[in-house]
Amino acid sequence: MTSASTRTVLITGASSGLGAEMARQLAARGYDLALCARRLDRLEKLRAEILAADPSGSTTRRIEVRELDVNDADQVFEVFRGFRDTFSDDGTADGNGRARGIDRIVINAGLGKGAPLGTGGYAANRETAMTNFVGALTQAEAAMEIFRAQGTGHLVMISSMSAMRGLPKSMTTYAATKAGVAHLAEGLRNELHGKPIKVSVIYPGYIASEMNEHVAEKAPMMVSTEKGVHAIVEAIEKEKASACVPPLPWAPLSVLMKHAPLPLFKKLM
Ligand SMILES: NC(=O)c1ccc[n+]([C@@H]2O[C@H](COP(=O)([O-])OP(=O)(O)OC[C@H]3O[C@@H](n4cnc5c(N)ncnc54)[C@H](OP(=O)(O)O)[C@@H]3O)[C@@H](O)[C@H]2O)c1
Repeated sequence: MTSASTRTVLITGASSGLGAEMARQLAARGYDLALCARRLDRLEKLRAEILAADPSGSTTRRIEVRELDVNDADQVFEVFRGFRDTFSDDGTADGNGRARGIDRIVINAGLGKGAPLGTGGYAANRETAMTNFVGALTQAEAAMEIFRAQGTGHLVMISSMSAMRGLPKSMTTYAATKAGVAHLAEGLRNELHGKPIKVSVIYPGYIASEMNEHVAEKAPMMVSTEKGVHAIVEAIEKEKASACVPPLPWAPLSVLMKHAPLPLFKKLM
């Protein structure tokens, strides 16, 4: 059984890359985990790996896994509510005597397919738009339903440095989805300012993962998954309103990306 002070984080897209590494690093910081993605076998392996790495093992750490396709809206609500019920029914309560639920939800699932508009790549662009934006909207709806009922919670939305500026060619749709994700988070933060429900938006730069393994050698500013996710977890733990990660070089570069005149910006991209 988990202790009343243990906090629970739900992570979507936890089967690889940033999501899987966030699970490892948050478990090492003492969190219980609710992990979901389409590849359930990967989640089960990750669960076993994290429990094996914890010297106290499954007696203190609780990790639940569920299959989820974020493009299936009914399944998103069902899985989020199922996790909430599972972690509420373990007989523990928070400091105010309320049943525990989910303390933090990280909307991380995403993909990077794309093609220049009008070149026959509509299917890839649509898949990216549906997964990264409509899927994120569905997850935010399901998360906020839980947090509004609990009266507390921390919503974390994983955007991207590509949200800073409209980007060309195969990045056009992806960048637009990530700007949309950031605006969902900002709108919620505006609404909830001063209230106990917190909202963070994270803008990762290049961090090694399955999504970018084919471009790794072309991205000199790429950092390892461990290093990049350490910066993400630090920002999340501080409940930052927004964070470019790792902060160097991405925080100063965000200013350049937003404000550089287009001819200069085109040379950089
Ligand atoms: N790595 C970077 O440099 C970078 C930079 C900026 C932003 N990001 C963002 O970080 C997030 C994680 O990406 P990553 O780099 O870790 O890539 P990744 O290794 O490819 O991981 C993507 C994750 O999303 C899940 N996913 C994809 N489609 C899904 C769907 N329809 N339903 C449920 N889960 C789905 C995948 O799980 P299944 O396939 O098992 O479903 C996987 O766990 C994404 O939102 C990405 O846009 C990454």
